[in-house]
Amino acid sequence: MSGQLITTALAAAAARLGDAGIQPAAREARWLLEHVLDGDRSWQHEPSARLTGEQARALDALVAQRATRYPLQYLLGAVEFAGLTLRVTPAVLIPRPETEEMVELVLEHVAARDAALECVDLGTGSGCLAIALAKALPQSRWHACDVSEAALDVARGNAARNGLAARISFRQGSWWAALPQGHEFDLVVANHPYVEEGARLEPELAHEPAAALYAGRTGMDAYRAIAAELDVHLAPRGMFFGELDAAHAEDTRALLARHTQRAVTLHTDLSGRARFVSAGCPPCG
Ligand SMILES: C[S@@+](CC[C@H](N)C(=O)[O-])C[C@H]1O[C@@H](n2cnc3c(N)ncnc32)[C@H](O)[C@@H]1O
Repeated sequence: MSGQLITTALAAAAARLGDAGIQPAAREARWLLEHVLDGDRSWQHEPSARLTGEQARALDALVAQRATRYPLQYLLGAVEFAGLTLRVTPAVLIPRPETEEMVELVLEHVAARDAALECVDLGTGSGCLAIALAKALPQSRWHACDVSEAALDVARGNAARNGLAARISFRQGSWWAALPQGHEFDLVVANHPYVEEGARLEPELAHEPAAALYAGRTGMDAYRAIAAELDVHLAPRGMFFGELDAAHAEDTRALLARHTQRAVTLHTDLSGRARFVSAGCPPCG
């Protein structure tokens, strides 16, 4: 008999991840194992199931990398976001659960889901917001913008795999400059960088693109750039939604209010922290 018992390999993987300070170690070990086994879970009913030599080496390499605090999602290569499967690489921020909450928030404020809305996603990264909202709003058309061409490549692939490429145009450029001039948009969403330079973060974040995280000394640079031209690009009944750091909520609200006469409102996440801001009067569109 050859090859390591899967139950033994799994316990060893969980112990190594736990020693590296990763929680929940057992669950992550299981996800890495399932990745190596291509999702095959039949071993759960066969206590004597063993890894092949190749599988054991692959699992070992993944666990070793994860133990350095390299993000799990980059190792798995995909995340679930708002019911979609999206590919992620180190070229893009890993989409976060609070951004899924922003999808729900936006949908609550749209007058009619079948309206032909002209929409923008500023700082699209993996494309998660544009793709999830394009799916939920079947007549909407999107401009998904990012300064990073590498991120746009990932986002384009995600849109194509989810059958939404025809309704999303991907544009490279800095914030509003990426968009066709002279247009007014019904809906603008942005989860842009909002971390202060030098902030102490989880070790995993060191592997995500710095341009996706940091926004100057105060973390407000991206908001400043977006707020400055918000009124020019938003249609009279248009709405803007942005994600923010709860610590900047009041500053962000005040910044937007200096640039627009529209109603500016803070919104809380599921844990009750102010994590989103909107500008404009609902319903949008
Ligand atoms: C926080 S990430 C968000 C990605 C994605 N929207 C999400 O929610 O997961 C911010 C994104 O903004 C992009 N970005 C940074 N500076 C930019 C700029 N000046 N213009 C456009 N996009 C920018 C980054 O490349 C990154 O993809």
